[in-house]
Amino acid sequence: MRVLLTGSAGFVGTAVGSALEDDGHEVVRVDLMLPMAHGAGEPPPGTHRVDVRDAQTWGELLAGVEVVCHQAAVVGAGVKVGDLPDYAAHNDLGTAALLAAMHEADVRRLVLASSMVVYGEGRYACPRHGVQAPPARARDALDAGDFENHCPVCGTGLGWELVDEDARLDPRSSYAASKVAQEHYTSAWVRQADSSAVALRYHNVYGPGMPRDTPYSGVAAMFRSSLERGEPPQVFEDGGQMRDFVHVSDVARANVAALESVVGSGVGRFDAYNVCSGEPVSILRVAELVGKGTGAGIAPEVTGGYRLGDVRHVVASPARARADLGFEAGVGPAEGLPAFATAPLRA
Ligand SMILES: NC(=O)c1ccc[n+]([C@@H]2O[C@H](COP(=O)([O-])OP(=O)(O)OC[C@H]3O[C@@H](n4cnc5c(N)ncnc54)[C@H](O)[C@@H]3O)[C@@H](O)[C@H]2O)c1
Repeated sequence: MRVLLTGSAGFVGTAVGSALEDDGHEVVRVDLMLPMAHGAGEPPPGTHRVDVRDAQTWGELLAGVEVVCHQAAVVGAGVKVGDLPDYAAHNDLGTAALLAAMHEADVRRLVLASSMVVYGEGRYACPRHGVQAPPARARDALDAGDFENHCPVCGTGLGWELVDEDARLDPRSSYAASKVAQEHYTSAWVRQADSSAVALRYHNVYGPGMPRDTPYSGVAAMFRSSLERGEPPQVFEDGGQMRDFVHVSDVARANVAALESVVGSGVGRFDAYNVCSGEPVSILRVAELVGKGTGAGIAPEVTGGYRLGDVRHVVASPARARADLGFEAGVGPAEGLPAFATAPLRA
């Protein structure tokens, strides 16, 4: 089928485009080549340099398209308050403009790149009081090296559990707020425009083509950059923060599965799925595994430092994506993270 892919020159978009073509689909590639992501880089061959916010003006590219795969976004944790308008413009307005243009062009199927950041903190349970939603961690506790969340009823340290897609959405950064807004615009469009959509909530994506170390990069790229400089990776808190690291080749396969699923479904569907490896890993272990791949023998340094907005644990359940999309990750962290240490990166 003919698929329009936004953000096609990005880290994930590049892998999705290749996976779609390998599967026999025709791909219309769209990317603004945002300087924040690409510097002065030129669009790869076959890429239409357009801004999703102007989707009404480039709508002719939607002719004959059966489904849109929307990866374009400004990414990162929302480092500065001053970044708020960029997230709102590219992610929220961009998605709204795209959805309106799709309606004009009678394109009624969408796969949206969402993120685990929509959840904020992960899921926690107290041995005595069951599932709990702890408040944000207090600065005093973090200063004292008390990094775990505690039961609001009895104060016991909470254990982490897998987050499923029904969890409350609780964005903790400007980027996260924009990803929640993308999902909400999409579900409104599904109802108003008699359409269907699938949102894929990627967990920590890593792999070949990942952008180099910037304040907006993922932690795996930061660890790798430290190791390349011959310095120990700096691990915040006690390194016990639990996450799910998913390889970009698996994220690409999840997109292909989601596209085929949403095209095959009737109107009125809006489903969200975790896209994860299903193998939780601590941040300290991530640093060790990337370090192992370099062979340089540099051990990570656990600093005890923290960033106030960081969540303690967020680890996903892969069950719904397996049941509905038939998606299961093929690359686990023990294999993928050492290989990432020497994979080619985006300049
Ligand atoms: N990388 C991760 O760990 C991760 C995790 C969760 C979700 N995501 C989501 O996956 C998607 C892809 O992220 P990525 O890691 O490949 O980032 P990326 O920065 O490598 O790619 C994003 C692409 O979108 C393009 N873009 C931005 N604004 C645009 C606009 N207005 N019009 C057209 N193109 C525009 C950029 O030029 C870039 O090529 C994003 O939606 C992101 O929120 C990524």
